[in-house]
Amino acid sequence: MAVMSVTCRRIMSVVTALLLLCSTGVFTAPTPGTSGGSSSNPFASYCTRPSVRKEWRSLSLLERFQYLFAVNALFSVPNRSPDSFAASAKNRYDDLVATHINQTFSVHYVGHFLPFHRYMTWTFEQMLRKEVGYTGPFPYWDWHLDTGCGKNQQTFLQSPIWDPILGFGGNGPYIQATPAQAAGAVPGRSGGGCVQDGAFKNMKVNLGPGATVNGPPRCLSRDFSFYFTNRYLQCNQTLATLKAANFYLFDQIVEGGPSFELSGVHGGGHYGIGGLFGIMGDLYVSPGDPSFWLHHANLDRVWWSWQQMNWPARKTDISGPSVIMDYNNFKVNPPVLQKSANTTLSTPLDLQYADMVNGPITVGNVMDITQMGYTYDKLYTIADVTTCANRNAAC
Ligand SMILES: *[C@@H]1O[C@H](CO)[C@@H](O)[C@H](O)[C@H]1NC(C)=O
Ligand SMILES: *[C@@H]1O[C@H](CO)[C@@H](O)[C@H](O)[C@H]1NC(C)=O
Ligand SMILES: *[C@@H]1O[C@H](CO)[C@@H](O)[C@H](O)[C@H]1NC(C)=O
Repeated sequence: MAVMSVTCRRIMSVVTALLLLCSTGVFTAPTPGTSGGSSSNPFASYCTRPSVRKEWRSLSLLERFQYLFAVNALFSVPNRSPDSFAASAKNRYDDLVATHINQTFSVHYVGHFLPFHRYMTWTFEQMLRKEVGYTGPFPYWDWHLDTGCGKNQQTFLQSPIWDPILGFGGNGPYIQATPAQAAGAVPGRSGGGCVQDGAFKNMKVNLGPGATVNGPPRCLSRDFSFYFTNRYLQCNQTLATLKAANFYLFDQIVEGGPSFELSGVHGGGHYGIGGLFGIMGDLYVSPGDPSFWLHHANLDRVWWSWQQMNWPARKTDISGPSVIMDYNNFKVNPPVLQKSANTTLSTPLDLQYADMVNGPITVGNVMDITQMGYTYDKLYTIADVTTCANRNAAC
């Protein structure tokens, strides 16, 4: 009883704190054209049921089932994207994939990459809650549990994330690449075919490949590279990311450079799961693999952890090129100077037919996740991640 009530009090205080933050707007980053109060928060109506995101393994088996069931249920909700926008879109889930395809070259390797994907992941969470009635925690994937000391390809495949029954399913069967394909392939790839088990083995990926929005449906494919996840999703890489002094550097370490050798945590998840032939490795259609959201929720958690380390400065710290890859001398050879203007708090974010909010959204609106009605059960700290990185290095 005593233990129960302590737990209950803890849960209650998290919920109360969230309600308070949302309704008062105390911690709203001042954004251009708004007063920062609750009336100007476009997400205010979503704050009534605050969500605490949790690692996949922290969901009960029932919650895992309900989550996987809800994602599948979204495949039966009609799409809103018209044929003129994405002719092959068949359901509500596809609205998200379609907008990602449409904006591929304007939301990657730019300053608003993290804000856009925060907003997109939030929108997916809200679709699950508002359109198919999911009420459990929204999950993230803490990469560190499946990489580093004591982990190998075998343990990676056995992660509860890829569980063949109450998980996202595993790798596709190995597909041989042609010599031309192999030349540009992700090192360590091990699959490439259709996912054989798990909650999405019968799923149809209706859009893609690449920019195609009027092609035939395909299976969900995966092409795991444990080499890649182990190299870019270990504590040492997260640590280097969290140590960035400002957002300009932070975002570039997250996104990495234009080659596999220059990847960051973002590419680590995409190419570690998608390899050469998998959906997650396709820059356009990657949200077509439901594991996309687990990975992006954790990227968002890295950003939020970093913001919380110096909140007064980082609640408004935003920059980075507004044009793809237009970086200032960063990991580019030969070096070039940034020509485009930096992303600002007033840079607009638009999810087109996937949109769940009335009115325009800006980067400034998504700087503070408590204003969007969610938070994380646990954040990364420099101390924890350093301990983990040292343990891996000594392994
Ligand atoms: C994205 O969608 C808009 C609005 O439908 C359209 O005008 C634009 O051409 C599309 N862009 C790409 C790259 O498909
Ligand atoms: C992290 O460790 C892995 C495995 O030893 C290594 O391949 C990678 O380069 C390291 N990354 C960083 C940022 O130190
Ligand atoms: C963009 O922001 C960075 C970091 O604040 C700054 O160093 C750089 O000069 C800015 N670039 C432009 C083109 O404004």
